[in-house]
Amino acid sequence: KLYTLIMAGGSGTRFWPRSKTIRPKQYLNIFGDDSLLQDTIGRFATFTEKENIYIVSSATQAEVLEKQASMLPKENLIYEPVGRNTLPCIGLAAMYAEKDNPEGIMVVSPSDHLIQNNELFKDTVLAAVKIADERDGIVTIGITPAYPATGYGYVQTAEDITGEETIRQFKVVRFVEKPNEEVASGYLKQGGFFWNSGLFVFKVSVFLDAVEKFAPALYADLRKIQADLGKPEYPQTLDTIYRAVQSISVDYGIMEHAQNIYLVEGNFDWNDLGSWESVYLTDKKDENGNAGAGEALLLDTKNSYVYSDEGLIAVVGLEDVIVVKDGNTTLVCRRDKAEDVKKIVEQLKATG
Ligand code: GDD
Ligand code: MG
Repeated sequence: KLYTLIMAGGSGTRFWPRSKTIRPKQYLNIFGDDSLLQDTIGRFATFTEKENIYIVSSATQAEVLEKQASMLPKENLIYEPVGRNTLPCIGLAAMYAEKDNPEGIMVVSPSDHLIQNNELFKDTVLAAVKIADERDGIVTIGITPAYPATGYGYVQTAEDITGEETIRQFKVVRFVEKPNEEVASGYLKQGGFFWNSGLFVFKVSVFLDAVEKFAPALYADLRKIQADLGKPEYPQTLDTIYRAVQSISVDYGIMEHAQNIYLVEGNFDWNDLGSWESVYLTDKKDENGNAGAGEALLLDTKNSYVYSDEGLIAVVGLEDVIVVKDGNTTLVCRRDKAEDVKKIVEQLKATG
């Protein structure tokens, strides 16, 4: 039985200020009519049963999630009392899936990526499912790295295990989460490295074995949560235990330690929209290389992203800038500094 878990609890600090007044990035319609989350659900719904698609999100996002995920059964929307990053999130979903069917295979997907070529996406995921099933491994979908990004995990591949398939697949040497730029540059020179797309596929039992081995305290807590699943005391149990678990990503908590990792190459168009810079790069440009939305008057301005929710933004004589206005807040940023927008959010949080 094939389960899908869509992780939708991120808070999206890198899209400030739009993410501030609206909501985290997965709920935004950055390009089309549907949000990134709705696109994600749609992508999986073409080849998996809706009854087996779970979304884990934060209780504070319940209202917007219920609206956007109305095509799924309500009981498949799982709420965390607080966000504890992706390892507890996946662990919690694994408790539901295992209880439903201990033999199940799970596809874990981020909710906030822009992916095109849905056919190829499906074939790639199904190739990963096949490996997870046959080899009892944790399978990642890898993207050919375009530059020494510091916001991604890197996967070093070993033996090519591609058989008759058209999609390349490898055994993995190791997984390194978010190396610094120097290290990342070294990987690119060396070759054989992929970016981790953030999509994982595994037998639920294989994943839980890894949690037991590499995060035993979390494993014990998840079992306690599972024991009360479906009982009246469940919300209280979940609340108490979940608040106390360590906040850690699956990349640091499991992937950097696990031995039985495989990689399937993802050749579909993939963009994690990790910053306004990646939105700019993905968006349609005019003849001066400018992109964005809303009312804008651009004079002698090139290769810039200008977004206004309401009212006019005028820019004169600038290149390579990002200007985003949302409500009474405006961001002005050099394009090559777009990753630092998250620092603004941290600073605002720190100073209240
Ligand atoms: N439910 C829930 N709870 N979801 C969460 C939580 C949480 O506490 N934290 C994050 N998520 C969701 C996000 O909404 C997103 O869809 C997904 O999990 C991944 O989290 P990010 O915070 O976006 O991770 P990242 O982008 O820094 O890094 C991951 O993705 C990269 C590719 O985009 C890693 O897996 C990297 O290795 C990878 O390269
Ligand atoms: Mg991300």
